[in-house]
Amino acid sequence: MASRETSRHPPQPLTLPRARKHVERYLHPDKMTRQGGDNTLQQGWEEQARNWVRWARQPGHDSYWRFHRDAFLSLVPSPGRLTLDIGCGEGRLARDLKAGGHRVMAIDASPTLVAHAREADPSMDVLLADAARLPLPDQTADLAVAFMSLQDMDDMLGAVHEAFRVLAAGSRFCLAVVHPLNSAGKFSSDAPDAPFIIADDYFARHTYSDAIEREGLPMTFHSQHRPLAGYFSALEQAGFLVEALREVTVGQGSLQDPRDPRWLRIPLFLHVRALKPA
Ligand SMILES: C[S@@+](CC[C@H](N)C(=O)[O-])C[C@H]1O[C@@H](n2cnc3c(N)ncnc32)[C@H](O)[C@@H]1O
Repeated sequence: MASRETSRHPPQPLTLPRARKHVERYLHPDKMTRQGGDNTLQQGWEEQARNWVRWARQPGHDSYWRFHRDAFLSLVPSPGRLTLDIGCGEGRLARDLKAGGHRVMAIDASPTLVAHAREADPSMDVLLADAARLPLPDQTADLAVAFMSLQDMDDMLGAVHEAFRVLAAGSRFCLAVVHPLNSAGKFSSDAPDAPFIIADDYFARHTYSDAIEREGLPMTFHSQHRPLAGYFSALEQAGFLVEALREVTVGQGSLQDPRDPRWLRIPLFLHVRALKPA
């Protein structure tokens, strides 16, 4: 994401000079997102699944290992009856939640990523399912997390409604996404004081793909930019009450690259904890 690990995500040294950014605007909110012809975001993630497994499992390779996981977990309630990890990928957060005492059911729409998550922990329940059509009864769980997955879903609105449906009353939904300010623009250069420029329309939803190669690991992220209101109106429409919000960035302690100081001025990620009222 522009890149999740270059311009959108705090960098470690890149082997490509700059990530390529392809943006396709579309006018229909939240249902089918098109990118590069007829491909959906879901198809894009399945195509990238093997790259993602290598990327996500390389210790220290992305912000998950440096600060993002811990920042997110600080917002997550204590383990209860059942925790859903929606958009689990190859399962790294699900495994970390399990290690923290959660009983986890992990869900992803990519068959390849589901297979890798199952292989990594055969004792974990891992479902192949679209987050917007969960094959689960109402009020199945007492916690749901969607870590860096809602911005990659074709039907984000449907996914938020489904999270609400499968949660018991009084339960929480915790989410992390690329911060909408981050996905709206980019720095004009790598200089620490580079201006951050929003050249396009902040309010216009659009899909984008960022191709990155770092330390020999290629990855193309397929996502959608939505303004803040896109996420918050989805939560509101579903019936959630927002009780915590964090604008997460790299943090002085995690600065590793000469270009990192730019990210002390702009939020990288948005974290939200929302309540399904009793
Ligand atoms: C950036 S990855 C995050 C994976 C994992 N949460 C992590 O941080 O390691 C985004 C994930 O969202 C999944 N995804 C995209 N669309 C989905 C959908 N409609 N339903 C469920 N998962 C979806 C992708 O397959 C991918 O695994």
